[in-house]
Amino acid sequence: MIAYLNGQYLPRSAATIPVEDRGFIFGDGVYEVWRAVNGRLFETDRHLARLAFGLRELRITEPDIVRRDVLDSIADRLLAESGLLEGEATLYVEVTRGVAPRTHQFPPAGTRPTVFAMANRFMPPNDVRTRGASAITTADVRWLRCDIKTIQLLPNVMAKQAAAERGAMEAIMIRDGVVTEGSHANVLGVLDGEIRTHPLDNLVLPGITRAVVLEIARALSIPVREDAFTERDIARLDECFLAGTTADVMPIVRVNDRPIGSGTPGPITMRLFKEFRAHLDTSCAALPAST
Ligand code: PDD
Repeated sequence: MIAYLNGQYLPRSAATIPVEDRGFIFGDGVYEVWRAVNGRLFETDRHLARLAFGLRELRITEPDIVRRDVLDSIADRLLAESGLLEGEATLYVEVTRGVAPRTHQFPPAGTRPTVFAMANRFMPPNDVRTRGASAITTADVRWLRCDIKTIQLLPNVMAKQAAAERGAMEAIMIRDGVVTEGSHANVLGVLDGEIRTHPLDNLVLPGITRAVVLEIARALSIPVREDAFTERDIARLDECFLAGTTADVMPIVRVNDRPIGSGTPGPITMRLFKEFRAHLDTSCAALPAST
């Protein structure tokens, strides 16, 4: 497996960063995860726009990788040399504020950001999808800029670990009695015939899968209301599901050991999954083959 680090392609084991990298010291950086099908990236531009947004908000100098042509060529080479031109993969990109002596304030102007990328084989969790996944609820203890995809993921790590220890796939985070999102996916519910999910603000990540799924739902004339549901509403949900790059559309059939609706994957969720999957496959197939 190879990695891209600051302009070089290296065996992954040789891709190392200095200990004073601000990503390592402060978690001072952002990341993105793309889905790739048969060597083609899904929703390249939306992920790039979110990466550029995060860099701007954090005032990290924009590296070349936010340019579409540069990203495409890095992705093509990583996917090809990692043997991932067929089947499913993910592309991970991380940009930190670079390497400098440890002081909290920004390093001197001209400090180059660190840019790292890798491609990995991905197996969609289709077995779990057929049965439906379970989730727990947990307090959302994150900061107030969850709209930026930073590499500071400790609350997400702790939440996901709590879920794993209880045999659940995801932790649904609750802030002030309101469902925000999961540890690594957005959370949507079907309540009173409408799809409900937290609106896009500083409390949730603007998920690309969420955006595509809502577009699909609207095209199918399924009512959508971007208005959060509450922790108390969970017991009344007809359906609940995750939307994310590595979850696709994933039905949640149990929350805190209580069934959601019938306790099996719901019809709206599974319809959205089928449409989403078809869209993922056709939009990747429509892209030019990698060089
Ligand atoms: N996570 N919310 C959070 C907190 C996330 O970390 C993610 C994605 C999402 C879904 O966003 P998208 O649909 O754009 O993938 C929502 C990635 C996959 C990760 O951390 O691995």
